[in-house]
Amino acid sequence: MTLFSKPSVEIIPQRFSCRTFLDEPVPAACLNTLRTFISTHPIGPFGSQPRFKLVASSQGDSASLHGLGTYGFIQGATAYLVGASHPEAHSLEDYGYLLEEYILAATDLGLGTCWLGGSFTRSSFCRRISILAGEEIPAVTALGLIADPEKARDGFLRRRAGSHGRRVWERMFSDEKFGNPLSKAAAGKYAIPLEMVRLGPSASNKQPWQIVRSGIDWHFYLRRTSGYQDGILNKVLDISDLQRVDIGIAMCHFELTARELGLTGHWLVKQVNIEIPGDQIEYIVTWCEANGE
Ligand SMILES: Cc1cc2nc3c(=O)[nH]c(=O)nc-3n(C[C@H](O)[C@H](O)[C@H](O)COP(=O)(O)O)c2cc1C
Repeated sequence: MTLFSKPSVEIIPQRFSCRTFLDEPVPAACLNTLRTFISTHPIGPFGSQPRFKLVASSQGDSASLHGLGTYGFIQGATAYLVGASHPEAHSLEDYGYLLEEYILAATDLGLGTCWLGGSFTRSSFCRRISILAGEEIPAVTALGLIADPEKARDGFLRRRAGSHGRRVWERMFSDEKFGNPLSKAAAGKYAIPLEMVRLGPSASNKQPWQIVRSGIDWHFYLRRTSGYQDGILNKVLDISDLQRVDIGIAMCHFELTARELGLTGHWLVKQVNIEIPGDQIEYIVTWCEANGE
């Protein structure tokens, strides 16, 4: 069963960071489909439920998005997906998981999207979602009609070929312990969900994902980029811990594609006895294969 009109393995390589949009509103039918999708998929894998709002301009009403700034990174977006969440354990991973699922739903509708975790004017988006005390906006997404479909198609071919500024497979996936690369052959049917993780978007394209297979378990770790979170700019702009959002994105790609392949399982935070090389790597969660229990 797929969530979308096509399998996720087809949609994931189609997504790219679209930063230039046509100056035309997103058709109402697409907005309605997206709103329905969002309302029927409200809870992240760790159980938190951020609230999301899809704001969009209609024909002749370009003023409705007035004030929603992106420091010039985005040209012509006619809609934004904005979310607010209560900071708690794993709320950022949930936020990343859910927003990426919505982005894939938008991609399935042929729309362009771009994650924005730093380049958006926080106060204007806070007003737009009527932020409540204790809530934060970890990231937003620009949405609209893709200005240059040809460029998108070229990019699709490169992404499908795996040559799109992504880390090589061996640096991300290990067998039983860190430093022991997992080959595609040894990954078996899981080679596809892992490849979909590799193609995912990440803040500043840092790709902080590390996955270690151990028997029937797939342990997800965050390899933090040195100095990234503590950078002065992040502090001044009050930027969230986006590398945890990246882990949620990886979980989304992995689970959607595993389920489509009939590889059922569930997420669990476990006691894992695998030696972690260095203090930049943190254990987050494990995908436990169902038929192994
Ligand atoms: C959590 C997150 C935050 C991001 N923040 C921004 C941003 O503030 N500005 C921007 O232009 N791109 C942003 N991006 C997009 C990344 O730069 C992009 O995903 C990455 O370079 C890979 O390129 P691709 O999305 O075209 O595959 C963000 C992506 C993620 C996942």
